[in-house]
Amino acid sequence: MFLSANMAANINASHYFVREIDKNDGCTLKLKQCYMGDVGCVVWDAAIVLAKYLETKQFYEPSSGVNVWADRRVLELGAGTGAVGLMAAALGAQVTVTDLEDLQTLLRLNIQENQTLIKSGSITAKVLKWGEDVSEYLPPPHYILMADCIYYEQSIVPLVESLKLLSGPETCIICCYEQRTEGVNPKVESQFFKLLQQHFVCEEIPADKQDPEFNCPDIHILHIRRKV
Ligand SMILES: C[S@@+](CC[C@H](N)C(=O)[O-])C[C@H]1O[C@@H](n2cnc3c(N)ncnc32)[C@H](O)[C@@H]1O
Repeated sequence: MFLSANMAANINASHYFVREIDKNDGCTLKLKQCYMGDVGCVVWDAAIVLAKYLETKQFYEPSSGVNVWADRRVLELGAGTGAVGLMAAALGAQVTVTDLEDLQTLLRLNIQENQTLIKSGSITAKVLKWGEDVSEYLPPPHYILMADCIYYEQSIVPLVESLKLLSGPETCIICCYEQRTEGVNPKVESQFFKLLQQHFVCEEIPADKQDPEFNCPDIHILHIRRKV
């Protein structure tokens, strides 16, 4: 789990900059992002909107004894810096954040940096390439989280395949994505939802159920469940 001296040395201070996400309890998640690297090495806006959504009172209101995340098994796909999974773990969930091999060092570094915010929850980083074997992530988690993962034409089929393999009848997939109008983005989005809706039902979460500050008309949150 903890970084070896070699891994830590590979991400030294001149390679990263920090993005902070304030939690409602006054603590702050600090996410290291890399100046150079692939799309996963920065925190995307959809990740911030989703992380703050996880803290809304329908999920988490400690003064009324509400904590949907306590002891829930949560799997994040395409986690990037791990912002969303770290928020879930800080709220009490048992989280596995997954991404490609290249993102594992950054994920582990961010877990290490934010460890003091994780009390009753837990978080582990693992490799999961969409479309590949998911047996180590079964039985199906209670929640699958994904932020800004619908952007790449070649990954649509494997991503939906992974969602099918990973979700059971009780699994809720919470998908947050930024609707983009340029280039291939509209086509990729429509392909994703066409394929997804063959097997899943989607419910869009209105703005008034999202964080009052961190929401945006271009960024959508969906709850997705397997068709029965
Ligand atoms: C736009 S980034 C979003 C990162 C993070 N969720 C966020 O919102 O800040 C997309 C993420 O999907 C991951 N990804 C892309 N293709 C993947 C694949 N085939 N299998 C697993 N992860 C993949 C990338 O490595 C990257 O971390």
